[in-house]
Amino acid sequence: MRLLSILCLGVAVQTAWASPTLRVIDGVRSKPDAWPWMAAIVYANQQPNEGQFCGSTLIHPSWVLTAAHCTDGETRDSIKVLLGRKKLTEEDKGELIGIQRIVKHPFYDYNPENPNADLALLQLEKPVSYPILRLADQYSDLIQPGEWGTVMGWGAQRYDHSRPSEYADSLQEVRLPIVSNAVCNAPLSYHGDVQESMLCAGFVEGGKDACIGDSGGPLVVETNTGWQQVGIMSWGEGCAQPDYYGVYTRISFYQDFITKQICEPQDTPSSPQLFVHIQGHYATVSWSKVKTAEGYQFYYAPSSADLSSVTVDNIQSFDTLGKVRLSERLNSGMNLSVAVRAYRGNCYSDYSNVGTIIIE
Ligand code: ARG
Repeated sequence: MRLLSILCLGVAVQTAWASPTLRVIDGVRSKPDAWPWMAAIVYANQQPNEGQFCGSTLIHPSWVLTAAHCTDGETRDSIKVLLGRKKLTEEDKGELIGIQRIVKHPFYDYNPENPNADLALLQLEKPVSYPILRLADQYSDLIQPGEWGTVMGWGAQRYDHSRPSEYADSLQEVRLPIVSNAVCNAPLSYHGDVQESMLCAGFVEGGKDACIGDSGGPLVVETNTGWQQVGIMSWGEGCAQPDYYGVYTRISFYQDFITKQICEPQDTPSSPQLFVHIQGHYATVSWSKVKTAEGYQFYYAPSSADLSSVTVDNIQSFDTLGKVRLSERLNSGMNLSVAVRAYRGNCYSDYSNVGTIIIE
């Protein structure tokens, strides 16, 4: 039977033997001003350097996102969130914030052989002013196999049953390629245990990975509007082993659930009104500017002139980089259904009206 390292909520053990070459597993120390939304989850009755046991990310001034298994057995009084500190022993830096509410995904199922919906939201006692991390949109194409992501955490820097884990004092990060679920589910790898709500990253030869104590931390990718979170560290067999990738909760699968939990009416921009203009082969789509919006996500799907052919499998989306007008030359017979949403942080407006583009 496989011993998955989701069974890893334990006490962080600091050991004396220093080994400068070992990080996250073979990562590097994060820069002091990088990742300002990265937060540690610590036991409330311990110092952060002893009591850190999971990572999390600030995704709203009042909410952090983590793995549900990080909250197993915990109450809002037993844990705290540490923001603004990269080196856990640097006591004068950052803020330890209490928790008002723990919201686990209703489908979360703690089964070490096949965990499901491993995500939880922690509502902070008071809103904070650190920058927030954007979550990948449900329909964005950021998660292509071969794309590089970065995972980070204060977890174990080696995985060795015969010796205590060596947790990091300074935040560590490692860059990893995203691999397809098909590769991750190969007979010699996880053999079907990886659900479509999960995402794998790592090298077939192993060597670099997150590990125990990194759970709940993010896998982020760089986009032209900044870093976005695509995964939450969830489980793996051992750490950094050949053929056994790190398995993450797939953010895009749960984006809707997350935003419904964290977004209040006052966070949510109103929805734009969309206009389509076609001249010959040129299609122009524009929409009304929304006052409180930080940007717009554009959605499109091929359609055969009727909307019923638009399914969740063929919708794609991208960030318009603040633009409220897009123009494109399209080929004859290319029909598209288009819509747009305004966003502020991770909170989105309703969809605009749907426009139809038909090129004769
Ligand atoms: N479940 C672990 C935790 O709570 C994370 C395990 C990660 N394993 C891996 N091979 N990436 O910290």
